[in-house]
Amino acid sequence: MTDDLSRNERIKEASDYLRGTLAEGLREEITGGIIEDDQQLVKFHGMYLQDDRDLRPERTRKKMEKAFAFMIRVRISGGVLSPQQWLALDQVARHYGNGTMRLTTRQTVQLHGIIKSNLKATLKAIDAVLLNSIAACGDVNRNVMCNPNPHQSRAHAAAIELARNISDHLTPRTPAYREIWLDGERIAGGEEEVVEPIYGKTYLPRKFKVVVAVPPSNDVDVFAHDLGYIAIPDDAGNVVGWNVTVGGGMGMTHGEEDTYPRTADVMGFCATGDAVKVAEAVVTVQRDWGDRKNRKHARLKYTIEDRGLDAFRAEVERRAGVKLAPTKPFTFTSTGDQYGWSQGDNGCGHLTLFVQNGRVHDIAGAAQQTALRTIAEMHDGDFRITPNQNLIIANVPTEQQAEIERMVREAGLLAPWSGLRRNSMACVALPTCGLALAESERYLPDLMTALDEKLATHGLSADDIVIRMTGCPNGCARPYLAEIRLVGKGPGRYNLYLGAAFDGSRMNKLYAEDLDNAGIIAALDRVFAAYAAERHKGEHFGDFAIRAGFVAATGNGADFHAQVRLPPARVPAR
Ligand code: HEM
Ligand code: SF4
Repeated sequence: MTDDLSRNERIKEASDYLRGTLAEGLREEITGGIIEDDQQLVKFHGMYLQDDRDLRPERTRKKMEKAFAFMIRVRISGGVLSPQQWLALDQVARHYGNGTMRLTTRQTVQLHGIIKSNLKATLKAIDAVLLNSIAACGDVNRNVMCNPNPHQSRAHAAAIELARNISDHLTPRTPAYREIWLDGERIAGGEEEVVEPIYGKTYLPRKFKVVVAVPPSNDVDVFAHDLGYIAIPDDAGNVVGWNVTVGGGMGMTHGEEDTYPRTADVMGFCATGDAVKVAEAVVTVQRDWGDRKNRKHARLKYTIEDRGLDAFRAEVERRAGVKLAPTKPFTFTSTGDQYGWSQGDNGCGHLTLFVQNGRVHDIAGAAQQTALRTIAEMHDGDFRITPNQNLIIANVPTEQQAEIERMVREAGLLAPWSGLRRNSMACVALPTCGLALAESERYLPDLMTALDEKLATHGLSADDIVIRMTGCPNGCARPYLAEIRLVGKGPGRYNLYLGAAFDGSRMNKLYAEDLDNAGIIAALDRVFAAYAAERHKGEHFGDFAIRAGFVAATGNGADFHAQVRLPPARVPAR
């Protein structure tokens, strides 16, 4: 390895396939944390070392160590859980975690607040219901997402099958997870190609995210991910193959214009039988071509910008032994969830609930976690986490539907009336996320209450408008694809972006910087007023923001920071 590789590359190479000194670190009782190199490695096992940032000032004053605890992200392809798996996660959340479960924008469950001495017990409990957290974080293929309702049509069934096949194929093979967390025996080491035939010793240059979409729903936000598949059905509804997308990614760094979010390109079309081969080829080209010196330039999106889509496609075709066909036509209509009941092909019903920011908990007047636990105890179908932090109680027979609906209504889990809230997402941010510059999950609900008052005055309460907030520019709630995006800049201060497409195909653009609560409300109120007065019939808010001159349209991403201007007539009140 040459000298200029990033530090993480050295850590991976020296880790002996992700072991590092994790086993020793777990036994170290003097601290609730682990050493820095192992903090990088533990991500590949689906965990982040965090600390409770609310408690930092007091603990610093008392000269105490930070209140360390781990976040565990479970690997759940397509977001489907059996009732037994739901119950097990609910139990570990209450027993070992902070009592709550967090449904994520990538269809997994995060458990927060697990202290070091409880990690093994937690992972054993998760393993007992055939779940794990391997590769839920780290420079590997993460949880594979998929439109969550496979029983609605044959296209959905094909989608989840593909998601699971890709996930299985790209899961790291290292036995380190079993050895460290589940007290597995160490298997005598083999050659590199045998241990990790796809990844090798140093895994990928950066994280890698795959999704499977079923038009007309773009709920997985296919353009936000490194690799995506778009189902192409024939007239009878059978999937004949997939359009393949590459090079989407949401992160950027404030003030560094050579970092930018990017929407994926549609690279071509492949038959179902070739889809996994194509996935492996995309991964290995990125493994070999991706930037291992600068982690801020290491995602597939930069590889494709640097090398060009044609060269990338040619190399993928060569490695996969598959010639991609020209892209087939497809249409997306929205990125949101369809709330309420839908009828499956198998005669059962699926009920899509609204879980605010994905946080499953019991709150005053709404025992949501308890209600879902009770449903899991009586329910034979399954639970599906949607890509919008919501939950589907799936495959409910007719005779149980009224009872389940009554329980979720009482728990306040049915979709709200507000068109803004129905289409909202916030990342976790404070107090657990070490990267948060501002609040997100704890702030967005109150902000939306204030915005709803303004929307009501303009007669816009029921209009579907997509709003997403994050506590920093990393983009965990895919905010770059929201019609209204708020990104934390510092405590209580946010940048406001407008102009993304409702179907998830175009990103937003900076509209106003450094706004506080009152500034956000005033700035948006002006745009709401204009939208109510001037919009065309059926025109979405993001499209209107561009047509009316509030912001310029963003292309695929390299132009994300360009043409940022505040036209004089539209300068928001500050
Ligand atoms: C450099 C970029 C990024 C870093 C360093 C990063 C780091 C983190 C961290 C530390 C958390 C844990 C927060 C907590 O639970 O306390 C988190 C949550 C999460 N991240 Fe990221 N993230 C990045 C970008 C992204 C992007 C682009 C996406 C998706 C497109 C994403 C998806 C998620 C999801 C789904 C969660 C779970 C919580 C939620 O739904 O909000 N992350 N990320
Ligand atoms: S967007 Fe930033 S603040 Fe929010 S969870 Fe991700 S890393 Fe943390």
